[in-house]
Amino acid sequence: MFDTKDISGEQALLEAQKIAFAPVIFQCARLLRDWGIFNLLQVKKQPLTIQEISKECDITIYATQILCESGFSMGALNFEDEKYSITRIGYFLENDEMTKANMSYNHDVNYEGLFYLDRSLKEGKPVGLHHTFSKTEETIYPIITTLPKKAKDSWFGFDHFYSDAAFKSLVKIMSKREIKNLLDVGGNTGKWSIALTSASPTTTVTILDHKAQIDEAFIHAKEAGVKDRVKGYPLDLLDHSKPFPSDVDGVWMSQFLDCFAPSDIVNLLKRAKASLNENGRVYIVEPFWDRQSHEIGAYCLINTSPYFTAMANGTSKMYRAIEFKKFAEDAGLKVVEEIDGLGFGHTLMVCEAL
Ligand SMILES: C[S@@+](CC[C@H](N)C(=O)[O-])C[C@H]1O[C@@H](n2cnc3c(N)ncnc32)[C@H](O)[C@@H]1O
Repeated sequence: MFDTKDISGEQALLEAQKIAFAPVIFQCARLLRDWGIFNLLQVKKQPLTIQEISKECDITIYATQILCESGFSMGALNFEDEKYSITRIGYFLENDEMTKANMSYNHDVNYEGLFYLDRSLKEGKPVGLHHTFSKTEETIYPIITTLPKKAKDSWFGFDHFYSDAAFKSLVKIMSKREIKNLLDVGGNTGKWSIALTSASPTTTVTILDHKAQIDEAFIHAKEAGVKDRVKGYPLDLLDHSKPFPSDVDGVWMSQFLDCFAPSDIVNLLKRAKASLNENGRVYIVEPFWDRQSHEIGAYCLINTSPYFTAMANGTSKMYRAIEFKKFAEDAGLKVVEEIDGLGFGHTLMVCEAL
């Protein structure tokens, strides 16, 4: 994975420039997408001049030149006989749902705050968050539903893009297990609770999260006709003195534990374990970067970690499965089942009390 030992010196120097200019390329690619240039070239199915693109997209000749020349250098546009056409890379930037979600999230949520990555890493605090969306919150989570509209949409677009895909397979797996009561810790706006209760009529799910997220989940649960079996329990999950509701069949933690530093993960798992009934299990769903079947997944995950540093909380990251096994063990749990390759590369780890 990420093996570069066989590339030539010249290739390596070019790759280094791609990194040195990455923020410039990123912004140009985003505008080629958002200002309709990729779309125009795709729809027209023929190469166009700068003048034609400028006129059709209603942007100046100068702006068109800046963006198209950058697009050519990044491999998203071809340039031949004074005309531009879209390449395969441009096609993915324009159409691929994962690329679109990643790009919008990186621009609308992370871009400005990442300028403060150095201070965030040194101070162990989301200094980027404090310079963008909130001067006072210790983490992004209490304010995700009240972020500016674009940031909110892109945050949820990113989160849901990955979890929705995994949930499709997970609903099939979990609805067969006849779970009566499940805690959905960090259940967010109810996507999982609604999916599971809709597929499994005897299951009740209780969401543990900030109140704002639970309020939104209730609206969605009502619309989906499962409000009677989607409950909510608002709390600050980082207050480890507060036990979870007890005597449950299962504790569900999806794309949740990566929001925390290792010591908090272990404490959260201990509280999960304490809430289980005799046959209860903890279900961890995570996209681990050491369990990806290709580099694309690992690349996206590894480079999501700086969001956690600068924007989310200053302490967490995307982890490897091997790290999570240790966290489970430290919390008095043992992993009894693992299913990889769910959605775009999530793993379900099922844990029992040791
Ligand atoms: C990344 S989202 C995961 C959402 C969902 N489980 C999924 O799979 O898409 C993490 C959730 O944990 C919640 N959360 C994070 N820290 C929290 C805290 N200290 N107290 C309560 N909820 C918290 C957030 O509000 C958010 O809904």
